[in-house]
Amino acid sequence: MNAEKARIADVPQIHKLVNGFGSRGLMLSRPLSEIYENMRDFFVVREGSAVVGCGALHICWEDLVEVKSVAVLEGNQGKGIGAVVVEACIEEANRLEVADVFVLTYEPEFFTRFGFIKVDLMDLPRKVWGECQRCPKYPDCDETAMVLKLKPQSKAKW
Ligand SMILES: CC(C)(COP(=O)(O)OP(=O)(O)OC[C@H]1O[C@@H](n2cnc3c(N)ncnc32)[C@H](O)[C@@H]1OP(=O)(O)O)[C@@H](O)C(=O)NCCC(=O)NCCS
Repeated sequence: MNAEKARIADVPQIHKLVNGFGSRGLMLSRPLSEIYENMRDFFVVREGSAVVGCGALHICWEDLVEVKSVAVLEGNQGKGIGAVVVEACIEEANRLEVADVFVLTYEPEFFTRFGFIKVDLMDLPRKVWGECQRCPKYPDCDETAMVLKLKPQSKAKW
């Protein structure tokens, strides 16, 4: 099983997958336009032409990238698909030579296995909060902030 870079034809399926969980408050929903604009951030796992898992790596700043929108179709969970997606994101972050990867999640235990550690949300730089303002829960964020430190020379305080 491989995670591949998303193609334009995958976008409607990514949208449906992410917003299926988003509408239940399990992750942040994303408009179709945003997924098209950021589709080069996305990895997908396919079964035939069906997208069964997705996730994105978004560049925030010179030293910081975010793992976003990790979702696996119900019925396909527990088969290692989510792990393949997160590993592809981390591999790309390493290739880009960034210092830190962060994630905001309701599933911290899932991310712990990749080396992410919990941090105080307030320790994340304010520039990553841009999209928080359109989150229905803003400003009462109840997600867990986590960071994976890829380089010892990380400037962050975690
Ligand atoms: C969380 C999610 C992405 C995990 O994907 P998945 O494909 O089911 O996970 P995997 O099969 O790759 O699991 C890899 C490992 O993580 C573990 N794991 C999976 N989900 C977990 C969770 N929620 N908490 C703790 N561990 C978890 C698995 O047991 C497995 O462990 P193992 O390697 O020891 O067997 C998936 O359940 C999902 O899409 N959930 C809804 C959306 C969501 O909450 N996304 C989170 C990102 S914001």
